[in-house]
Amino acid sequence: MTVSIKPLVAGNWKMHGVTADLGELTQMVAGFDLDLQAKTDLLVCLPATLIFRAVEAAKNGALAIGGQDCHSAPSGAHTGDIAAEMIADAGGEAVIVGHSERRADHHESDEMVRAKAEAARRAGLTAIICVGETAEQRRAEETLAVLEAQLAGSVPEEWEAGEIVIAYEPVWAIGTGETPSAADIADAHRFMRDTLTASFGERAVATRLLYGGSVKPGNAAELLAIDNVDGALIGGASLKAADLLAIAGVYMEGGAAG
Ligand code: PGA
Repeated sequence: MTVSIKPLVAGNWKMHGVTADLGELTQMVAGFDLDLQAKTDLLVCLPATLIFRAVEAAKNGALAIGGQDCHSAPSGAHTGDIAAEMIADAGGEAVIVGHSERRADHHESDEMVRAKAEAARRAGLTAIICVGETAEQRRAEETLAVLEAQLAGSVPEEWEAGEIVIAYEPVWAIGTGETPSAADIADAHRFMRDTLTASFGERAVATRLLYGGSVKPGNAAELLAIDNVDGALIGGASLKAADLLAIAGVYMEGGAAG
């Protein structure tokens, strides 16, 4: 059975961007025209300080705005943290959870990531759940075992089709200019699809599986055409409207049919 999945091109600005950079966002909104909207969804996950302003800037546009992390609780004594409900209140529609930079910098476990994904659902946000192996794990040929464990630990039990997105981001490919071979990405994505389908059945068949890690305009056509790659999560190249739109534009040329 072939299921057609609308791709998602998602930007992750990480800890970059102040109000002066909202001009890039305005250009993204303008460039995300009806033809492109018909082919792909476009989302930009911003620093929390910019979400409200960005939602205003994107008003009447189809570009969606998201956050980069959330706490698992709806409110409470958690200085410096942000609830999923706060992202939703600011107009955000999605949130990244379990990015490898948070897993490393903030010691986030699979259990914490799952609780954050559950919080996203509670707040009505799409959770983009990140998984991926380190260079060391890859050398030890543990990639699929790592993905299996992270999926088992980080994906909530309860969700409806469309509420979660999985991003495969090999840690060693993030910000390095390196990417796995197309065959390795195809293997990882096939494995994730099969693993999720075994646990969740029908819901997983249409779940978007993004690839992330050094996606650029120059390699996007090849990466997005890989089987079971339903879009991309993009760091560095999402900061510039021209680059992000060029990556999304791959879907216009009919070159990507993941
Ligand atoms: P990159 O980051 O595109 O800069 O490699 C990807 C990510 O961390 O989401």
